[in-house]
Amino acid sequence: MTDVRAVSWDGEALVLLDQTLLPARHEYVTCLDVDMVVDAIKRLVVRGAPALGAVGAYGVAVAMDQGEREGWVAGRLSVEIARIRNARPTAVNLAWGVDRVTPLIAEGRGAVLQEADVLAAEDEAANRELSRRGADWILARVERRPVRVLTHCNTGALATTGWGTALGIVRELRNRGVLEVVFADETRPLLQGSRLTAWELEREGIDYFVQADGAAASTILRGLVDVAIIGADRIARNGDTANKIGSVGVALACHDRGIPFVVAAPSSTVDLTTPTGDNIHIELRDGREVVEFAGIRVAPEGAHGFNPAFDVTPARLIDAIVTENAVVEPDGGSSVAVLVEAR
Ligand code: MRU
Repeated sequence: MTDVRAVSWDGEALVLLDQTLLPARHEYVTCLDVDMVVDAIKRLVVRGAPALGAVGAYGVAVAMDQGEREGWVAGRLSVEIARIRNARPTAVNLAWGVDRVTPLIAEGRGAVLQEADVLAAEDEAANRELSRRGADWILARVERRPVRVLTHCNTGALATTGWGTALGIVRELRNRGVLEVVFADETRPLLQGSRLTAWELEREGIDYFVQADGAAASTILRGLVDVAIIGADRIARNGDTANKIGSVGVALACHDRGIPFVVAAPSSTVDLTTPTGDNIHIELRDGREVVEFAGIRVAPEGAHGFNPAFDVTPARLIDAIVTENAVVEPDGGSSVAVLVEAR
């Protein structure tokens, strides 16, 4: 089946599939200026670390076009590019995407766009390769066939430039004929699991359940799943991994039950400049996302929403981190650096 394209360039502008509307509506947002790019990132029109990397790269071209149209004074372009780079803090890929094309600005818009296209193509290729590696590792570790998977957050084609990371491994397991079912946690913010992961699984024809995040630990402890696979927004040098809020609870339950907890990400998500998870900036989102449901207040007026978008799973709770380059078992003391070696 053809992948959905969450991020693309239509020749004139950055085009994003509006993920705030899925699965009810399939509409696109065309970003013609920096305000629109920043707004789309902050509102989660586009989301997922690898997708944000591509948005960062194409966003630089959007800023260059706007600067040309509006005759920006010297220095303004870097200020506007920095706004895109800092629009969300946790996923390292956004800054990485911006930084990868910024040195090409002097060569012109064509060079920036060409590099952004290369970045996007490399991301999809990385996802396919890490999916093969991840599936190999899981099938060597998990005895039961077919395999029952639990996943948290969304890590499919929507969250990347194509194919997916954790959901890419799920697709690979299905293609090998060894997948039974997926338990997809509903996942905040904005229920990305029940809206987006479920939408992708449905399109793939994969059997799945959507469950409340609060059900995950019990599902694991009752022996209903064989492996948990999640994505990542930033992997620190010691293997500590930031991912969508609720991931660490899944890891703790897997640890207790003795089933593998696997992190899947392209090497662009590994940040060797961040020593440990303590150094990762966790995005705190608007509390209204917690005290409201579909825009309607459900908590008492006096309630304040506490809304961290991510948490950090310590490396000691992670059985394997998979990138396109390698599989590392952090608990075994393996170095995370090999995950980025071919970069
Ligand atoms: O808030 P989001 O949707 O940008 O967060 C996305 C996630 O947590 C994903 O799991 C992660 O970025 C990996 S995407 C392949």
